[in-house]
Amino acid sequence: PALPDLSGKTILITAGPTQEALDPVRYLSNHSSGKMGYALAQVAAQANAKVILVSGPTNLGVAPGITKIPVTSAAQMLSEVMQQVQQCDIFIATAAVADYRPATVADNKIKKKDDELTLTFVKNPDILKQVANLPTPPFTVGFAAESQNVEHYARSKLNLKKLDMIAANNIATAGLGFNSDHNALHVIWRDGEHHLPPQPKVQLAAELLSLVATQFNKKTSN
Ligand code: PMT
Repeated sequence: PALPDLSGKTILITAGPTQEALDPVRYLSNHSSGKMGYALAQVAAQANAKVILVSGPTNLGVAPGITKIPVTSAAQMLSEVMQQVQQCDIFIATAAVADYRPATVADNKIKKKDDELTLTFVKNPDILKQVANLPTPPFTVGFAAESQNVEHYARSKLNLKKLDMIAANNIATAGLGFNSDHNALHVIWRDGEHHLPPQPKVQLAAELLSLVATQFNKKTSN
């Protein structure tokens, strides 16, 4: 589709996985490659927006003009997002943030000992929820990675986290979602929705950005 014109707008995007350290050599993470978030950053830059990409560890590079802030853990991602968000018009959370982190990070490598190892985890901060609940939040777009009841869970995230829009993907669909070059999204906002069919992530990102721009313009012209 034709890209919207986002000149003068600043878009903050989170991408990739987070890594939650267990000890100096081990971490808990997930299969996010960052492709979805980097695709959005690329099309947002092509749409003339100023783009800030807060990214967990990935193998991807960014086009010149995109400001990339690399982070490792959810706590670092939250801190960088909070430092940037006040100057942003739109926030899009594509990152697969670990919901929990190990309760303690061992100073030394955990040694092999018993037949079983029990670890305790504590909840990580919800970056998306914190942004959406700021006194003057940007236009806030969440993602929802679901393997069942996709629409139901996406709608409850939209309402509970007070988002402007949510892009839900069914991560149980073979060939789409995590680490794939393709994805499909069910995009939902308060008074509308749109299904974006399976396609390459860059194309999909352009279609999502058009929907975001339309709803952003509606909200800010009120
Ligand atoms: O990176 P790729 O390989 O391209 O894969 C893309 C993707 C599948 C990771 C992406 O399309 C996607 O679905 N991203 C969201 C993954 C996720 O963690 O979803 P969730 O339903 O658990 O989280 C809901 C939303 O809250 C997300 O916008 C997430 O960024 C945000 N969140 C979650 C937890 C947390 N502590 N902080 C957050 O900001």
